[in-house]
Amino acid sequence: MTITTLCAAKRIVKATLTNQLARFAPAWYVRFTGETGRGLDEETSAQAARYFQRCFDDYFAKLGVAPSAISAFLAGKHILEYGPGDLPGVALLMIAHGAESVVCVDRFPLVQLSEKNLAVIQELLASLGKEAQQRAQNCMLEVNSPAAGFNPEFIRYHIDPNGLSGLRDQIDLVLSRAVLEHVNDLPATFNDMYVAMKRDAIAIHQVDLKSHGLHLSNPLDFLYWSESLWQLMYSHKGVPNRLRVNAYRAILAQTGFDIVTLEPTLLADTSDVSLVRPKIAESFRHISDQDLRWLGFWLVCRKKEN
Ligand SMILES: C[S@@+](CC[C@H](N)C(=O)[O-])C[C@H]1O[C@@H](n2cnc3c(N)ncnc32)[C@H](O)[C@@H]1O
Repeated sequence: MTITTLCAAKRIVKATLTNQLARFAPAWYVRFTGETGRGLDEETSAQAARYFQRCFDDYFAKLGVAPSAISAFLAGKHILEYGPGDLPGVALLMIAHGAESVVCVDRFPLVQLSEKNLAVIQELLASLGKEAQQRAQNCMLEVNSPAAGFNPEFIRYHIDPNGLSGLRDQIDLVLSRAVLEHVNDLPATFNDMYVAMKRDAIAIHQVDLKSHGLHLSNPLDFLYWSESLWQLMYSHKGVPNRLRVNAYRAILAQTGFDIVTLEPTLLADTSDVSLVRPKIAESFRHISDQDLRWLGFWLVCRKKEN
């Protein structure tokens, strides 16, 4: 047995066992791995607050809404966010700037009002003008006491084993960042989104198609694993589902969304695609070289009129 085969065998056994842990004790698993949703790197509360502010700004830049027009755009809007991570920081900013309500839906119970996250909330509050700060304070169960949690009338956190909202015709704006590449049943998530949205509502997503640390020497070599082995090792852990941009186009067409924007944020080198092409698993072989290059993208789509 070569060293490479031995390493692969070890990885399969370890990953398969931990996948079963994640399956039967998901809450324990996410706490054990220390997952925040923003990766495992150490970050200060100020850095985390800046991250949420950047996410907020990026959404409106991509939607073509100028900073001075954000409050008018958000006024009265009901928002659905998939996968907020360990703190609904974007939801808090949405409410502060005028949204009526935000439902945050996740497959894993990551949100924690830990000391660190309470400090992040304080940073966010401190960055707001007086009126926005007041709105943000009002969405806590106890004014001036974020530790008491969020009032579900304004920010509701909903955990569902498949990450689905179950809402119907209520939502004006859907958001996600670094989430869709993790969902276990992407057609079901798009269908949930479609049903939850009002007619003509907009959804905006940033999707990261990179390996999340699961490649070896080529950014696309995590596509070598067969679908069945990948499922065995990772299906319950929320690691990337490996779907490429072609799958998103097909699901959008099937669900009945109009694509407003679909643009790459990062492309692999053509030489990386040529190198992996002969060894990629069966399920990726039909994908064009152009589509295999996409390592991330922005998607804006609209629920059709009828
Ligand atoms: C990489 S984190 C991103 C968190 C946050 N959006 C951010 O930008 O920091 C992925 C998030 O998606 C969630 N997630 C995974 N599968 C999901 C599903 N099927 N439906 C909804 N959320 C899901 C994870 O639990 C986690 O909160």
